[in-house]
Amino acid sequence: MEFAELKERVAKLKAEKNAVILAHYYTPFETQELADFVGDSLELSRLAAKTDADTIVFCGVDFMAESAKILSPEKTVLTPDPRANCPMANMLMPKELRRYKKEHPETIVVAYVNCSAEIKAEAYICCTSANAGKVVASLPKDKPVLFVPDRYLGTFTKNKVGREMEVWPGFCPTHQRFTIKAVQEMKAKHPEAELLVHPECPEEVSAAADFVGSTSAIIKRCAESPSEEFIIGTEQGVLKAIREKAPGKKVYPLLEGNVCPNMKLMTPHKVLWALEDNEYEIKVKEETRIKAKIALDRMLAL
Ligand code: 13P
Ligand code: SF4
Repeated sequence: MEFAELKERVAKLKAEKNAVILAHYYTPFETQELADFVGDSLELSRLAAKTDADTIVFCGVDFMAESAKILSPEKTVLTPDPRANCPMANMLMPKELRRYKKEHPETIVVAYVNCSAEIKAEAYICCTSANAGKVVASLPKDKPVLFVPDRYLGTFTKNKVGREMEVWPGFCPTHQRFTIKAVQEMKAKHPEAELLVHPECPEEVSAAADFVGSTSAIIKRCAESPSEEFIIGTEQGVLKAIREKAPGKKVYPLLEGNVCPNMKLMTPHKVLWALEDNEYEIKVKEETRIKAKIALDRMLAL
């Protein structure tokens, strides 16, 4: 099927079902084109919480669709492919966190949203890469803090805010691939370019960067910086928005072909099928949802 025809069928189904399509910046370019809103995980959580659509088709990995369901339980939340999960989110089991909490009852748990609903339900507050500093700075000073599950966002935030925290050793396999060697090679090739990276990158890569921020923050920086050239240390899906919002500027991926394979499962034809078949519905146990919502709401209230 041609993309134009697919787009038309999607639009018709969306109107019939009062549905909205939310997509993360890492999804395929054509999926971003189908979406009503494209954003980073914080923006998408906010949109999911306030949309008046009956159905949300969430093009992102599972924890993002789950967050939408936690925030909007009365809505039908569909994922076009239930196999799209986030390996970092799987690096912490609810049982591990429960045991940790039992051994450290005083500790405040901050959960990066890249984790399961069950982990969110065990956390005091959630954060995304866009607001981790603000979230950590808001915590009472006299309590120990555990940051889960990303070691790099945790360490970056700890240094930025100047707050001692224990950090869980999880990581993103896609961002972990950005190395200081790649930074040196790309800087030698493009000495005038600003290096913009995501805080999920290894410490030495973030330390070498001119700017560290969430996907939306990186896109905004490209548009607003006087610089004409950028080296981008995050998933390549952001290139679409950068080309639209910073036309004419030169953008080089820090590592060619470094993609999140799970985000790339969100193909346009699966979006159409999701609307046609009302599949695949995201479900979260009510008991878990109520607890997880408290942690997400604390974050959204900041
Ligand atoms: P953002 O918080 O920038 O949307 O990033 C989410 C993510 O999964 C990065 O790998
Ligand atoms: Fe998870 Fe990394 Fe993919 Fe983001 S890019 S969804 S952290 S695997």
